[in-house]
Amino acid sequence: MKTPVRVAVTGAAGQIGYALLFRIASGEMLGKDQPVILQLLELPLDKAQAALKGVIMELEDCAFPLLAGIVGTDDPEVAFKDADVAMLVGARPRGPGMERKDLLLENAKIFTAQGAALNKVASRDVKVLVVGNPANTNAYIAMKSAPDLKPENFTAMLRLDHNRALSQLAGKAGVAVGEIEKLIVWGNHSPTMYPDYRFATVGGASLKDRINDADWNANEFIPKVGKRGAAIIEARGLSSAASAANAAIDHVRDWLLGSNGKWVTMGIPSDGSYGIPEGVIFGFPVITENGSYTLVRDLPVDEFSQKAIDKTLGELEEERGGVAHLLG
Ligand code: NAD
Ligand code: LMR
Repeated sequence: MKTPVRVAVTGAAGQIGYALLFRIASGEMLGKDQPVILQLLELPLDKAQAALKGVIMELEDCAFPLLAGIVGTDDPEVAFKDADVAMLVGARPRGPGMERKDLLLENAKIFTAQGAALNKVASRDVKVLVVGNPANTNAYIAMKSAPDLKPENFTAMLRLDHNRALSQLAGKAGVAVGEIEKLIVWGNHSPTMYPDYRFATVGGASLKDRINDADWNANEFIPKVGKRGAAIIEARGLSSAASAANAAIDHVRDWLLGSNGKWVTMGIPSDGSYGIPEGVIFGFPVITENGSYTLVRDLPVDEFSQKAIDKTLGELEEERGGVAHLLG
């Protein structure tokens, strides 16, 4: 029997939490032979704690063989104690008519406190995924608030955007999603993100040549992927939850277990590549293996792509400026 992996999840009684926990406990994230201990954080409010209690009761009632323990708490230092994986979901979602960055100041405080708690008590190798919006800047805040942890272990979720782009491309090209490789979503998890299929392949052949429609790319595909979150809020009255939880599982699974040589998109702290200033949490193409990721380097950037990358970077720099006062 393997040693259990401690997985902390914040906002555990929220929408995404409810779509996420049962899949982690069943082995879909870390493998069907990997026991897990769930360490669940919710707000210190009666309603939130009662909802968390109910979720824990349901987890117990599933009798998952891989679920080696459950901790429910309102204290980040309990939730993050020795955590190997921390999925930071708990934050306010946006409603209709809002942009994700409208949440910045309200949610930023959560990530300074949680970064500090991770710094104090988590495993020194903890892998952090920030889902709560605005995800890139919240990941940046958490990373800066945890100076004793490895900056490269702080990541933001762009996998939902990657999956959304895959699905749109597969529909347009008439191929199966699983056939498409080498897709990228550059930048911020916001409408400025740049889904880029210039290098994408289907069965080894160029997807761009197959689609061959620059107008569709600029005027339909890119805006549709960028605004998909808002379209879901408009349709459901609530932000995406099952697809977000699914993307979180994809992100952590690939990070820990490997992407088998395939490119995936992760929001990671830049090392200065592609002209992105060091430390900015930016969506990049990576290949993952055994708990680490390697940036796909030296891809050519044409004029159209440079403009798109500059735009999303500009927005991230603005968000970073807006929270600088919280970081001392
Ligand atoms: P939700 O309101 O249903 O659940 C959030 C939960 O977090 C609530 O139960 C709340 O009590 C809890 N919470 C709030 N602050 C907390 C804190 N400081 N510590 C612990 N728990 C806390 O929201 P949701 O639909 O689950 O969405 C959660 C976040 O994920 C939102 O910010 C949303 O915008 C974001 N999101 C991101 C992506 C992405 O692709 N990055 C996708 C979907 C949603
Ligand atoms: C999404 O992309 O679905 C989430 O970030 C939720 C939102 O606010 O759009």
